[in-house]
Amino acid sequence: MHELDFQSWGRADDPAVVICTTEADSADWRACAEVLAGAGRHVLMPALTDAVDALPRLREGLVGLPSRPVLVAAGAWASEALKLFSDAQTPLLSGLVLVDPTGAADAGGQINTPSLVVGQGAEAAAFAQALKVQPVSPNDAVADLNGSDALAAVLLGFLERCAPRQAVHYEAGSDARVLRDAMGCFATGVTVVTTRDENDQPIGLTANSFTSVSLDPPLILFCLAKASASLERFRAAPHFAVNVLHIGQQPTSGVFARPSSDRFQGVEWETWDSGAPILSNSLASFECDADQVVDAGDHLVFIGRVTRARFEPHRDPLLYFRGKYRRLHFS
Ligand SMILES: Cc1cc2nc3c(=O)[nH]c(=O)nc-3n(C[C@H](O)[C@H](O)[C@H](O)COP(=O)(O)O)c2cc1C
Repeated sequence: MHELDFQSWGRADDPAVVICTTEADSADWRACAEVLAGAGRHVLMPALTDAVDALPRLREGLVGLPSRPVLVAAGAWASEALKLFSDAQTPLLSGLVLVDPTGAADAGGQINTPSLVVGQGAEAAAFAQALKVQPVSPNDAVADLNGSDALAAVLLGFLERCAPRQAVHYEAGSDARVLRDAMGCFATGVTVVTTRDENDQPIGLTANSFTSVSLDPPLILFCLAKASASLERFRAAPHFAVNVLHIGQQPTSGVFARPSSDRFQGVEWETWDSGAPILSNSLASFECDADQVVDAGDHLVFIGRVTRARFEPHRDPLLYFRGKYRRLHFS
């Protein structure tokens, strides 16, 4: 957006969301912007200190964006947004969101764009009436809506409806990278799978292909690449363990994903009945008897029968999504 200072998050070719708030430096709004960028939005937060001067430049800047943006106007910027965008001949926005609006709810004309009012109380109701929509409250328990995860969730729902992202297609024969990216849309936890080799040495690697299979009998699985240096040792082992990592164990995930002669150095571990290494303080650990090994393309599927498990109920998991480590956002 030219001639207007702004902070930005995400990729410039993603659908744009412009957030107008006087609290652009607040940790809450920045956290909200990060969540939106993580969901594939290009977030722009202009520095709006002087309304009189900034408004025409904001409008000019919006016209220059590659796609029609969704405008999020918070607090006093809600009434400015109504003045600025009502009766526009060509719709400049693909959506308008007013958050905790204050001031005059006089549109002065028609707003020809899908709209959303987030907030509670008489002022939010007046703005909702001007836009002919129902006001929504993301979560009655959230005292301050600005920038909360609950607000981000409501914004994302609205964005998906009024400015959906373009889907990418994979068909047999397409670039494998596209399939990989599609599979990366399935968010997982992260584990370290372990066993002992024929010399009783601990071995292990990072794996996110873990899943539960059956409760009765208690079965789980993980997939191991045929290219893995650990493959033959896992295939020969009568037991293995799966350690589900918590948010504080990202460095451990890194260590067990990199080639190394001793990944267990510097990691606290113990053994239970089978001797398979149990990483101490993991979110959960499963000790298993090897049950079946299934040949599947460029991987082997290891199915284990759980003989013992332990979990820590008060920690958050380490997550993996689209090739990056993540943490839980929504509660
Ligand atoms: C988050 C994450 C998940 C992974 N999941 C798997 C998996 O499920 N199966 C696999 O074979 N490799 C997986 N890998 C890759 C291995 O951890 C990595 O290639 C490791 O160096 C293999 O070690 P090895 O060759 O000593 O067995 C993953 C890596 C990361 C970072």
